[in-house]
Amino acid sequence: TDRYAVIGNPIAHSKSPAIHAAFARQTGQDLTYEAILGPLDGFVACVRQFMRDGGKGMNVTVPFKIQAVELADRLTERARHAQAVNTLKFEADGSILGDNTDGVGMVRDIRDVLGVPIAGRRVLLLGAGGAARGVLLPLLEEGPAGLVIANRTPEKAEQLKALCPGRGEVDVARFDELGGQGFDVVINATSASLGGEGIALPAGIYGAGALAYDMVYGDRPTPFMLQAREQGAARVSDGLGMLVGQAAESFYLWRRVRPDTAPVIAMLRAC
Ligand code: ATR
Repeated sequence: TDRYAVIGNPIAHSKSPAIHAAFARQTGQDLTYEAILGPLDGFVACVRQFMRDGGKGMNVTVPFKIQAVELADRLTERARHAQAVNTLKFEADGSILGDNTDGVGMVRDIRDVLGVPIAGRRVLLLGAGGAARGVLLPLLEEGPAGLVIANRTPEKAEQLKALCPGRGEVDVARFDELGGQGFDVVINATSASLGGEGIALPAGIYGAGALAYDMVYGDRPTPFMLQAREQGAARVSDGLGMLVGQAAESFYLWRRVRPDTAPVIAMLRAC
């Protein structure tokens, strides 16, 4: 039986053990997956101990995703671009591969579970912090017709844009310039929802059939989701599918089997 774990602080409310247990059942993979509370000053020692104990890989969550970049011996391109690691794979030679599955997990949730294509569509990315950075490259790899980054502090949107030269058309806009632009997919990567706040968005940002997607999830629709409905978004989703999607990509990295996320999302919605 191979061992895996998620490390974070706090960790008690992590859904990852339940998600990976469901994936293992679904795919018939023989593994265990536990939650480890990492001491704030002892992340690296904790990971090394889990390796010595025979662990094969770990998920990394708040506040250790940046320290995990330093710890990894090699990074995937998407982890390097995100400058954050949420998945560690312990290789047979003792080295550590660092990956980031958050962005691709979100893209697959939007494309495959919600059934909304990104290729050829106009995408608006709200926010320019770590969460936005983590999804930018996977979004561009889908081949949108255009991607606009809008942030409350415009300079940070410019900085984020500068990180992805030559990877598709990226524009920067201020919130008040977005009115009437009619995007197909609008993604909230700001932390506003975490504080229970909405975002000061003008009318007309949603085109016909548009999807509004909040990377945050909770028991109730977020302020962004409520506002999106009022402003005419045809479809609205929280980020629970992204959580399950990133887990599925980590599972795939470790096991080379990609679980079906839809039944696991449904299971989490039911509890
Ligand atoms: P994270 O890792 O979650 O992305 P972060 O790096 O601190 O966190 O970035 C937070 C993002 O949410 C930023 O884009 C921030 O905008 P600013 O750069 O202008 O600070 C955005 N944000 C937070 N609260 C917001 C609010 N109430 N309205 C609009 N944007 C908000």
